[in-house]
Amino acid sequence: MNVLGIETSCDETSVAIISNDILTANLISSQDFHSKYGGVVPELSSRAHLQIIIPLLKDALKKSNLELKNMDLICATAGPGLIGALLVGLTFAKGLAYSLKKPFVAVNHIEGHIFSGFLMKEKPEFPYLVLVVSGGHTLLLLVESFTRVIKLGTTVDDAAGEAFDKVSKLLGFGYPGGPQIERAAAFGKSDKISFPIADLKEPFNFSFSGLKTSVLRYVQSNYKDASLISLDDKNEIAAAFQKAVVTALIKKVEKALSQFKVKSISLVGGVAANSELRKSFEKLSKQHNLKLVIPDLEFCGDNAAMIAFRGMKSYEHGLVNDLDFSPYPGLTPQHFS
Ligand code: KG4
Ligand code: ZN
Repeated sequence: MNVLGIETSCDETSVAIISNDILTANLISSQDFHSKYGGVVPELSSRAHLQIIIPLLKDALKKSNLELKNMDLICATAGPGLIGALLVGLTFAKGLAYSLKKPFVAVNHIEGHIFSGFLMKEKPEFPYLVLVVSGGHTLLLLVESFTRVIKLGTTVDDAAGEAFDKVSKLLGFGYPGGPQIERAAAFGKSDKISFPIADLKEPFNFSFSGLKTSVLRYVQSNYKDASLISLDDKNEIAAAFQKAVVTALIKKVEKALSQFKVKSISLVGGVAANSELRKSFEKLSKQHNLKLVIPDLEFCGDNAAMIAFRGMKSYEHGLVNDLDFSPYPGLTPQHFS
């Protein structure tokens, strides 16, 4: 079976092909030009998706040694994401499914991330605990099977990636912030400043807006202007902030591990690229004697391989979507119980 996956939910255009359970292409085109605006500009994102999607599809077919007519299933991200950006990939995929007379599956982007560990050689074993940390979402979930995912907690305000992006902007680094904060933090000591970690009533929820505000207050009370912060000080602020985020995330994962019996743990989404967070997960998995699955960097950020995989599994469990399926910007109550 040949499965085509298409992802255009934000600022990455991606086309992937899974052929007889082997990933033969996962092409990702990142829209780097957003960095000069300090964040993703939705309309520019949609236009860039439109320009690149057909060349990417052609390259993915060539790389896989396949033709469009060989595709058996067409999958695309339907949400959550930027509505205009989603429309490009989703409409393109529906058009392909219609003209090829092949089934179509609309994939939830977060479900793509949740199961992205299956793209690795060493796969998660059910039941597993997964932490989804991306630019728009922070979710702690218990995954019992390909059809049963239980939400344990989520952020009550900013997503972890969003906090990285906002603090990066505050320190005068560019967008996306995560990699720049990580780079700066590598040169700073994390114990010079102590930023607070939210203590919420709900056991598995997260909050990052207080942390972001305390970084802002720290900068305002110690410097006349953010542009006057020395590089050394920026590195220290970045290191202390990164430590606070990692500690906050790990605290909730540990709490969940004390309540739920699982076989594996998985860390997914764009922020899963963070090496301090990866190290903390490695430590945790050893302490609890659990299998750890963190996808390779190519599968942490947005990619169509995870969309093709999730779509294929949904199809194998009987899902086929109508061609009038509409994109959706956020998670709806029917996603995760
Ligand atoms: O999953 P993703 O590619 O897109 C969304 O679905 O949102 O995640 C993007 C997020 C951005 O906020 C970016 O700053 C963050 O992932 N990120 C990182 C790192 N690399 C990317 N955050 C922390 N450390 C990193 N190394
Ligand atoms: Zn994502």
